[in-house]
Amino acid sequence: MLKRIRYISEFSHALGPDELRQVAADSARNNKRDQITGLLISAGKLFFQLLEGPPAAVDECYRRIKEDPRHTNVLLLAMEVGDMERLCPDWDMKGIDLNDESQERLELLRGVMLSIHIQQMATDRLRLALEEAVWTEFLRVGEEP
Ligand SMILES: Cc1cc2nc3c(=O)[nH]c(=O)nc-3n(C[C@H](O)[C@H](O)[C@H](O)COP(=O)(O)O)c2cc1C
Repeated sequence: MLKRIRYISEFSHALGPDELRQVAADSARNNKRDQITGLLISAGKLFFQLLEGPPAAVDECYRRIKEDPRHTNVLLLAMEVGDMERLCPDWDMKGIDLNDESQERLELLRGVMLSIHIQQMATDRLRLALEEAVWTEFLRVGEEP
């Protein structure tokens, strides 16, 4: 049984290439121990990460990641559980830095990351608005004689 999650988050402060490499290297060390594989992309001030492995290990890892002060607004994009093949069987955690300004072809990928983030923030806000409206409606109906 494999669990796979994808999330996107924002740097909480400027992180340089050395720090980004360090995050990936530290993650890879833990992930080897926990049988987790995946990739960690950074672009602009955003992270996109794919994590896959035994469900309990992935849950525990994601719990630690969400509490990490180096990033904020950790937004879950997708979660899958099942008898699946790993997408990144050879990467304990492959760090990919898209911020090399000299590489113009990376501009498009940075734009895609930004679009995903904006869209996810909007989706999360709409979901909250929907839930608030439903609770309000439910309570109002509940109060009717
Ligand atoms: C963007 C980001 C991705 C991370 N990815 C992982 C990861 O894949 N695996 C992991 O163990 N820790 C990851 N971390 C680090 C965890 O948040 C946490 O600091 C670490 O797991 C603590 O490990 P330690 O108890 O060995 O110090 C990540 C942190 C950030 C900011």
